[in-house]
Amino acid sequence: MTKDWKPDSWRDKPAKQLPDYKDKAALKSVEEKIQTLPPLVFAGEARNLRRHLVKVAEGKAFLLQGGDCAESFAEFGSMKIRDTFRVLMQMSIVLTFAGSLPVVKMGRMAGQFAKPRSGDFETQGDETFPSYRGDSINALEFTAESREPDPDRMLQAYYQAAATLNLLRAFAHGGYADLHRVHGWNLDFVNDSPLTERYEQLAKQIDKSLSFMSACGITGERTPEIIRQTEFYTGHEALLLPYEQGLTRIDSTTGDWYNCSAHFVWIGARTHQLDGAQIEFVRGINNPLGLKCSPDLDADTLLKLIDVLNPNNDPGRLTLIARMGADQVESKLSPLVRAVKEEGRNVIWSCDPMHGNTIKSSNGIKTRKFEDVVSEIQGFFNVHRTEGTHPGGVHLELTGQDVTECTGGAKKIADEDLSSRYHTHCDPRLNANQALELAFLIADELKDMNINKPDNISEAAAAE
Ligand code: PEP
Ligand code: CO
Repeated sequence: MTKDWKPDSWRDKPAKQLPDYKDKAALKSVEEKIQTLPPLVFAGEARNLRRHLVKVAEGKAFLLQGGDCAESFAEFGSMKIRDTFRVLMQMSIVLTFAGSLPVVKMGRMAGQFAKPRSGDFETQGDETFPSYRGDSINALEFTAESREPDPDRMLQAYYQAAATLNLLRAFAHGGYADLHRVHGWNLDFVNDSPLTERYEQLAKQIDKSLSFMSACGITGERTPEIIRQTEFYTGHEALLLPYEQGLTRIDSTTGDWYNCSAHFVWIGARTHQLDGAQIEFVRGINNPLGLKCSPDLDADTLLKLIDVLNPNNDPGRLTLIARMGADQVESKLSPLVRAVKEEGRNVIWSCDPMHGNTIKSSNGIKTRKFEDVVSEIQGFFNVHRTEGTHPGGVHLELTGQDVTECTGGAKKIADEDLSSRYHTHCDPRLNANQALELAFLIADELKDMNINKPDNISEAAAAE
């Protein structure tokens, strides 16, 4: 067990980005209530994820993480969960095939409610209210009342996360993720895309492989765990510590602490202070962890953070999620990758090509250009090619729905289109078409890499 650590030891550390709840008694009562609620995930599931992530760390698998920037109470519904799950499955087939690698699938779902903000306040006209910090903290509407942090919202987040997980588990195990069905959706996408020719060849190759597998007797009836089922994990930013602490429990099998709010949690770019509350909290939980790496993070600080978060240098424990921006990914990421490699630290490198590429459109809307997203990913692969390290995964803000929040892509969303279906509560997400198109482009990078192949084909198939 981690030295001098308790689920509440973060309370003695300086905390950034936490809301200042006015009604302390109400906060205490919600915290006590959360501690009595059932865990959302089991420690054993987090350990399974960790085993898969060991493969990623060894260069034998790829991590695909994606979902909303911020989940919302208002937009909660089965269609939305289904569509995000579906697009992640579609992307995963393409990536599995292209890289001949198992793909570890993880949603930014079932807990991604609390948001760090660059300013504590927002001003519109002559009114100033506290910033929106995510639905588990306050509401988006621009009024004094909505923006007041309300601890009861943590309970609503918990119940929404529980219902989301319930449906995700059903989709993952109940046949919705059947490989043939998912591939069928991909064919529809390819046929509809303005870039059909570009994607056709890969889609046809996948088609042939699936037919070959069927001919060999690898069918849904005979091998449901390969064809019809999948493993799907959840993760979110470990920001709102009263909520995270409340769901942190001792695992009866191992005696270790796990944060049972998700399989995986990460530390955001604004809360990675070595002596800060969020780092203190996550160092003591046994879940696999993520750490966002922004351009201002230097190699020395990163190595110190790695010491704190992964003192035993266990592979699979720590995923470094680089979010540098397309124009500086190569210059900022290379020194970090090199230092980590030279110091022999076992980490997974993942690329978040979203958060360093946020801009204002010509009509003043927060957006991201698809071409910048692609360019950051290409830069990320270049760095790993040069350094001889494994480009372990991607971390994306996306939705399975047909929104217009990021510009570009094959359907050429323009600045003027943004307002037509702009639904995000926080940052702009790739829509289903853009996300799948991105998977095909990442597939090109993966095919190019001289990546260790899994020991046998069934390993790759089993991860689907
Ligand atoms: C996020 O992932 O939504 C986020 C806020 O990212 P970052 O901490 O990297 O800015
Ligand atoms: Co975001």
